Amino acid sequence: MTIREINIPKRTIMTPGPVEVHPRVLRALSYPVLGQFDPAFTEMMNEVMAMLRQLFRTKNNWAFPVDGTSRAGLEAVLASIIRPGDKVLVPIFGRFGYLLAEICERYRADVYTMECPWGEVFAPEDVIREIKRVAPEIVAIVHGETSTGCMQPLEEIGRACRELDVLCVVDAVATIGGTDVNTDEWCLDAVIGGTQKCLSVPSGMAPITFNSRIEKRINERKKVERGIATEEDLKRERERAPIFSNYFDISQLMDYWSPRRLNHHTEATSMLYALREGVRVVLEEGLGERFERHRLHEAALVEGIRAMGLELFAEGRRKLPTVTCVKVPEQIDADLVRNMMLDEFGVEIASSFGPLHGKIWRIGTMGYSCRKENVLFTLAALEAVLIHVGAPVQPGRALQAVLSFYHEKTAVKGGVS
Ligand SMILES: Cc1ncc(COP(=O)(O)O)c(C=O)c1O
Repeated sequence: MTIREINIPKRTIMTPGPVEVHPRVLRALSYPVLGQFDPAFTEMMNEVMAMLRQLFRTKNNWAFPVDGTSRAGLEAVLASIIRPGDKVLVPIFGRFGYLLAEICERYRADVYTMECPWGEVFAPEDVIREIKRVAPEIVAIVHGETSTGCMQPLEEIGRACRELDVLCVVDAVATIGGTDVNTDEWCLDAVIGGTQKCLSVPSGMAPITFNSRIEKRINERKKVERGIATEEDLKRERERAPIFSNYFDISQLMDYWSPRRLNHHTEATSMLYALREGVRVVLEEGLGERFERHRLHEAALVEGIRAMGLELFAEGRRKLPTVTCVKVPEQIDADLVRNMMLDEFGVEIASSFGPLHGKIWRIGTMGYSCRKENVLFTLAALEAVLIHVGAPVQPGRALQAVLSFYHEKTAVKGGVS
């Protein structure tokens, strides 16, 4: 059998991740490999840490990527702070809340969950009431739920956690670089981002940041391991001590990301070039400008969806600006439509999970994929396929509505891309 040279088909990727990678990031990925202790590389590590602090809007000392997909970041933080029997409260409003609960359970936390219907978010006061009732050591919560297209307001929850001395760990995988994530202002103790979404870097690293409250917890354990603490402490800690992942032991990652540069695993140096360039692109654009661009193209997409006669699944204040969920019209095969869009137009949109599978499509407007041409092409492909399969849409309206929308914005702003 002859395996031919790789030939990647042309795609317009409008899913909630992975999305199209920025051309500058692709270029960075092709640079020659450097060793993980090469000063030219360790200098880049310092640059990445400085840029991640800006991205997360934090003064935290610690901001670095964990190697692995986004859940590697979630697992590293949770594995490093949970002691068996710790109470962790997980408010769940979609699939990724269940992921947080599962990770906490695997590290033997005593997990308390609260749920709201998919498509909704929690009133912060309800979460705060539950925090007071359960008195957990940790609250773990998703910011942007890609499974439902909803975004949980975190400011009040974060502040309440600080007042009640509870650690607040946040999954900002789908929001970092696409909409406001104000780590310090919202009193978030640890925040985990994703690369393959609004940063337009391939999947394979998870940028995280955490503050001294989290560091203190991690260090308590480390002292025991290093023999700084007494035998008795050691015994007590071992009894409570968790299974302890080696790969996700943040104390060891901190040793590599500190000036000591102690060896842990072999750093994915090429991925760090990619992350460095991806975050550089984000900061060059400016966080405020970037978030505005995400809102603009989200609004254009929504305008087109509505003009076509389709309905949104989650809208209003709870809507995640980087993901738009669209209800599948009755009698229409959701997967057939998606497959035709991919086969005929090379446009990829996403289905959903669990109770929403077949009921909604999820369209991302993230990072480099979040562009006028992509919005127009996706709407054109969706409309054409829906007409083809006999769905009751208003032909020809969507693109006209979106063109007018963009023209209006151009008149105000002097150009949109
Ligand atoms: C909100 C959210 N959290 C966590 C994850 C898990 O990320 P990964 O698949 O990169 O491990 C995803 C992935 O889509 C996500 O959307």
